[in-house]
Amino acid sequence: MMLDLAIRAAQEAGRVLREWYSSPQEIESKGLRDIVTAADLEAERVILSLIRKGCPDARFVSEESYSTIRDYGDFPTWYIDPLDGTTNFARAIPGFSVSVAMAQRGVILCGAVYDPLMDQLFYAERGQGAYLNGERLRVSARDTLASSLVMLDWPRAQTPRDELARFLAWLAMRVDAVRSRGSAALGFCAVAAGSAEAYYQLTLGPWDVAAGTLLVEEAGGRVTDVHGKPHALNKPDWLASNDRIHALMLDARQEFSQG
Ligand code: 2AM
Ligand code: CA
Repeated sequence: MMLDLAIRAAQEAGRVLREWYSSPQEIESKGLRDIVTAADLEAERVILSLIRKGCPDARFVSEESYSTIRDYGDFPTWYIDPLDGTTNFARAIPGFSVSVAMAQRGVILCGAVYDPLMDQLFYAERGQGAYLNGERLRVSARDTLASSLVMLDWPRAQTPRDELARFLAWLAMRVDAVRSRGSAALGFCAVAAGSAEAYYQLTLGPWDVAAGTLLVEEAGGRVTDVHGKPHALNKPDWLASNDRIHALMLDARQEFSQG
């Protein structure tokens, strides 16, 4: 079963990350505020090898080695982030994960996100609900911005970072709390688990969000781009929520951008 394969791959890669976490990391720069460590590459190698064995038709969109976003038609396409939250990992800050999902014709069918330090495994299969270590997940019932915790992460590039900083100044005055987790996949999982009401980010790769999107939807939440249009794995901007505050977040963004 493809969900089992996604889970196994996420857990095996997580084991690598857990083992390498306490040793000093060699950090290589990929671009502005963009780094990679040997652990990213080793975790990716473990995942690719497991999936090639379990799903011989697999095509890959994977952050380090197959980062070109292509449409592979009917082929099972695996979206992989071997280490989501590399900045946390490299600085020995907890809060990173492995994200593995499989989609066909752009529809995400199953996915797993594993936090190796917490030993938390989030997983979902389309139509079958979302789970954390075997427990069914439901999004939160809070329905006001004032009672909401919003998670967001920082774009690397200056222009979207500036846009987010200005939106944050506006939003922070209207919500209960704001958190930056440093792993987009764990941000989506927090919404699925009901710990956060929304997650907002302007610049994500499909590997960051493929599994998390299915988790949020299967937990009863909603995922769109930040304009409220249907999400697509090749779009960079994402709003995931418990559904109840989705329109409020979209209105907030609209009001901010007009004000
Ligand atoms: P990463 O750790 O895999 O690089 C923190 O900023 C979160 O957003 C992380 O999940 C990070 O992924 C992701 N992220 C930030 N900027 C990004 C970008 N330009 N493209 C893809 N992912 C990004
Ligand atoms: Ca990554």
